[in-house]
Amino acid sequence: MKKVFVLFLILILVLSLGSICLADTKEVNVILNREIKVTYNDAIQEFQNVNGVKVYPLSYEGTTYLPIRSISSLFQSKIKWDGNTNSIYLGEGDLDTTSSKIVSSFTKGNNETIKALLNRDIKIYYNNKVQTFIDATGKAVYPLSYNGTTYLPVRAVSNLFGLKIDWDGVTNTIKIGKEKEQHDSKAAVVYFSATGTTKQVAEYVKDETNADIFEIIPKEKYTSEDLNWNNNDSRTTKEQNDKNVRPEIENNIDISNYDLIFIGYPIWWGDCPRIVQSFIETGKLNGKTAIPFCTSGSSSISGSENTLKNYKEINWISGKRLTASRNDVANWVKSLNIKSTSESKENNNLNTKIIKIEVNNKELTVELENNQAAKELVQKLNSENVVVKALEYGGFEKVGSLGFSLTRDDEQIKTEVGDIVLYQGNQISLFYNSNSWSYTKLGKVTNCTASELKELLGNGDVTLILKK
Ligand SMILES: Cc1cc2nc3c(=O)[nH]c(=O)nc-3n(C[C@H](O)[C@H](O)[C@H](O)COP(=O)(O)O)c2cc1C
Repeated sequence: MKKVFVLFLILILVLSLGSICLADTKEVNVILNREIKVTYNDAIQEFQNVNGVKVYPLSYEGTTYLPIRSISSLFQSKIKWDGNTNSIYLGEGDLDTTSSKIVSSFTKGNNETIKALLNRDIKIYYNNKVQTFIDATGKAVYPLSYNGTTYLPVRAVSNLFGLKIDWDGVTNTIKIGKEKEQHDSKAAVVYFSATGTTKQVAEYVKDETNADIFEIIPKEKYTSEDLNWNNNDSRTTKEQNDKNVRPEIENNIDISNYDLIFIGYPIWWGDCPRIVQSFIETGKLNGKTAIPFCTSGSSSISGSENTLKNYKEINWISGKRLTASRNDVANWVKSLNIKSTSESKENNNLNTKIIKIEVNNKELTVELENNQAAKELVQKLNSENVVVKALEYGGFEKVGSLGFSLTRDDEQIKTEVGDIVLYQGNQISLFYNSNSWSYTKLGKVTNCTASELKELLGNGDVTLILKK
């Protein structure tokens, strides 16, 4: 009897081992989703398999999957299947292409639960590099096979191709689209100067960045009596004491063709002259990236930056007080990593969306938020790597001091695995579990699954090296 029991145990063990071995492909219940719409750059997309039969997106555990052929067509990518290595190749270069035709529009119908194969064995290569796909929560997702067609997770693939993806729950639509067109842009220097010092510095900035230059000319010129700060009744004293005064500008400055604007001015009573606000309030800087610079007797730029950052429609990059020295200006421009603005898109990367974090000899890819703190972080990383001694905290995060402050825009957030946030304005936290607190979100790790990240970070303190 004892023998039979032992044999029975061995049998159970063998069977369970067998199921572990087979776990790389498993049959799962999946929704064949006939009602979901997919748009690409606002046009509805439909998909066919190799035999011209219409195929629909699949939904599994909150992730939507598209047939691989449609992905190739949608993202205008080459695609190749290698049955020997069980690999799918996407990208450019030496790959066989297969394309699927886009046909009319979706027929509405009932969704259906079908059996598909979750395939952990298939490797996906993009430009010959193996990809790990994760869903919006950081969990690893794998290709599905159904009816002879392989399906890939649409969010992960869109991210791979640098495309934005949104879900519209009202119309049941996945919207995939291009980011704003990156046209070749040149920078502009816009400045105000009452006595010529800022004008000189502005000329240097123009030279160092190969920008175009524009002067803000007041309708009513400032006389030396107007500029007398010892006189409580002088025009400038009165203007600076009244936050609502907006002196008129004589000239029309057209900066519509520029994405990056340097804006220069003298410091008056610790702030920017009100006429600079007159210019900003024309709205011409809205949606653009702006870098302030100033000249002064001794005051720093910070008071004026506090005023400027209230204009939230503008992407402000931290600026600097400069002296009328070509060297001083050249060093500053160099630290911004903008050599020539005709090459600025490639070189300055102030709008970069990706940074890296090296931890325990692995490089994490971090997709940044589109906010002021993230931009300031990129600016810092343009000149140097930032090393953070991050302490283990609470069983959910590694947190450490940046050694500098970034602009806070804190809100109550429930963090997810892989989230990177700014804490108290000068500390960075990398989450491997969830926590709810008031943070400014900086970005998210995109090249690591939740379990990989937990394992990588371990139980103790870690050193994070932030770099571009
Ligand atoms: C009305 C007025 C107020 C000023 N206030 C300050 C100040 O608060 N702090 C400072 O360091 N310099 C101050 N300055 C000095 C100017 O910032 C400095 O001379 C500047 O370089 C002048 O630039 P501009 O020649 O382009 O007009 C003030 C100058 C004026 C005319």
